[in-house]
Amino acid sequence: MKNKSLVSITDFTKEEYLRILELAAEFEAKPRQDILKGYVISTLFFEPSTRTRLSFETAINGLGGRVIGFSDSGATSASKGETLHDTIKMVSNYADLIVMRHPLEGAARLASEVSSVPIVNAGDGANQHPTQTLLDMYSILKTQGRLENQKIFMVGDLKYGRTVHSLLQAMSLFNPTFYFISPEELKMPATYKLHLEKMGLNFHEGKDLIQFLPEADIIYMTRVQQERFTDPIEYERVKNAYILRRDMLKDCKETMKVLHPLPRVNEIHTDVDSSPHAYYFDQARNGVYVRMAILSAILGVK
Ligand code: CP
Repeated sequence: MKNKSLVSITDFTKEEYLRILELAAEFEAKPRQDILKGYVISTLFFEPSTRTRLSFETAINGLGGRVIGFSDSGATSASKGETLHDTIKMVSNYADLIVMRHPLEGAARLASEVSSVPIVNAGDGANQHPTQTLLDMYSILKTQGRLENQKIFMVGDLKYGRTVHSLLQAMSLFNPTFYFISPEELKMPATYKLHLEKMGLNFHEGKDLIQFLPEADIIYMTRVQQERFTDPIEYERVKNAYILRRDMLKDCKETMKVLHPLPRVNEIHTDVDSSPHAYYFDQARNGVYVRMAILSAILGVK
């Protein structure tokens, strides 16, 4: 993984995913280490973020590295018309690795082609969010004890939700069964379903959340991605399509966990928060250890 960019989850192999998860467990056991002393990492966020940026910065600080970057591109020369190409050329003069979030699909790939240092994609439009996927996998492994043979419900905005796209691709290496629950307008894109068919994997698709819930190992809730809609009326029509409530979980397996990449709007009622099934805040904490693992593997210090 040394010096490799992480743009799409498919840039890493199954063995590399497992190595990252192993390293993440080591960092969880010992989160303060000075192994990034002398390294400068840049966080370039052209789109809002709370968890991804702050957990990357917590990871860098915890490992003794330094951070440069921005959380608002409006305060940079991008607002004067500087291109992404030129911005990346410049920043790769200053940093050993660039973490970037951008609203345009393919922006991270473009950055990796012009950068002289590795690029880590922190989300590009509706396309990919590979570091979220690795922390989702770590959360599945921690709570279920294995990655293999999981029954995973993906619920909500499966069209624009980049986290479900990356997670589907990575987990497809571990013989899952997927249940895609969404409104008609927000179905899982055909390309991802074709990928599963080619791999001979089972999936079910429907609109009814309740019917099969007792079978779930993982319920992966997603927010309807308002910022990706071109038609506000369409967003209004689907925004409340699914609201998970505690009483809906009464027949679920004891070990079943509810995950969500967050932020949530109202798709998980707050009465779920105190349920033993709720894992989304722990999942966000896992992001620090997984991002420590990703940075140290790519920088070649572990
Ligand atoms: N999960 C996630 O990407 O959250 P943020 O948008 O807050 O970074």
